Amino acid sequence: MTERLEDIARALVAPGKGILAADESSGTIKKRFDKINTTSTEDSRRDYREMLFRSTDAMSNYISGVILYDETIRQKAKDGTPLVDIMKAAGSIPGIKVDLGAKPLAGPTSKIETITEGLDGLRERLAEYHKLGARFAKWRAVITIADGMPTWNCVKANSHALARYAALCQEAGIVPIVEPEVLMDGEHSTHCINECYRVTEWTLRSVFRELYDARVNLEGMILKPNMIIAGQKSAKQASAAEVAEKTVKCLKETVPAAVPGIAFLSGGQSDEMATEHLSRMNALGGLPWALTFSYGRALQAAALSAWGGKSENVAAGQRAFTHRAKMNSLAATGKWDAKLEKAA
Ligand code: 13P
Repeated sequence: MTERLEDIARALVAPGKGILAADESSGTIKKRFDKINTTSTEDSRRDYREMLFRSTDAMSNYISGVILYDETIRQKAKDGTPLVDIMKAAGSIPGIKVDLGAKPLAGPTSKIETITEGLDGLRERLAEYHKLGARFAKWRAVITIADGMPTWNCVKANSHALARYAALCQEAGIVPIVEPEVLMDGEHSTHCINECYRVTEWTLRSVFRELYDARVNLEGMILKPNMIIAGQKSAKQASAAEVAEKTVKCLKETVPAAVPGIAFLSGGQSDEMATEHLSRMNALGGLPWALTFSYGRALQAAALSAWGGKSENVAAGQRAFTHRAKMNSLAATGKWDAKLEKAA
């Protein structure tokens, strides 16, 4: 495969394809496993992810790349094959989460606002991940809407860290996924859709300013933003048509056309809403970049519960995962329809 950043970035957002975010930290995957009464061990995490990566139909037709966690990129399948080789054989590109998590941002808002850490030693870690097969990476910054927040300090510090991360990735021959997430869930999520629009526009402007200052090659990166959507605790939820229209408007205002693709996070939306919103955006047409998915929860929730931690349910888990991957693939070309969900 080509090693050019621009080619890797374009392959990640090829028509009808999107990214599987399977980079849950050990703490996060434990929470997901708790819900299905499954103990999180190195082996159970391996079994679960092996089930996903061996879903050959999904991995070769709908999933362009997979974001892995440090443990997984080093892990071998039960038969000894490296998990990375399984996804590569299916034609899917291995990626790696390289941030070390969102930590309290020192200052008056430290109980709520965070700064994502992980820049120290990142150059060396990226060199190792490249050797392990990673050709793209992810760094997630978290922006919380609350009373008087986000602060400019939070937006600025996180944008700056994203740009330094992105420049280091490109130096290492790795495509950076730049993920500034304006949260839609959590205890403060009472904001309306227009507040989400305002804060997302502000954040994206700041991020692209920093990327420019850091001389990041926009053609060799992917943006992973939130959609423009009301907070989960808001009494007033917007229609799917409004979410699609406002998200596209906000992105057109802020994301240069040189960026090959935008791959959304699902952020706490239901599986079907995440699919419908993406499909509606693509159906609008006239977009300067590819618009696709880089979902974690919205691609995995159904598979997790069908699997339930039991080896006899692997085929059911793979069917559930393949179905969501296929629905989102259709959404990435604007061709999803609710009737297709029922046809499953
Ligand atoms: P969700 O789709 O579950 O929001 O996860 C995507 C992701 O990678 C968050 O960093």
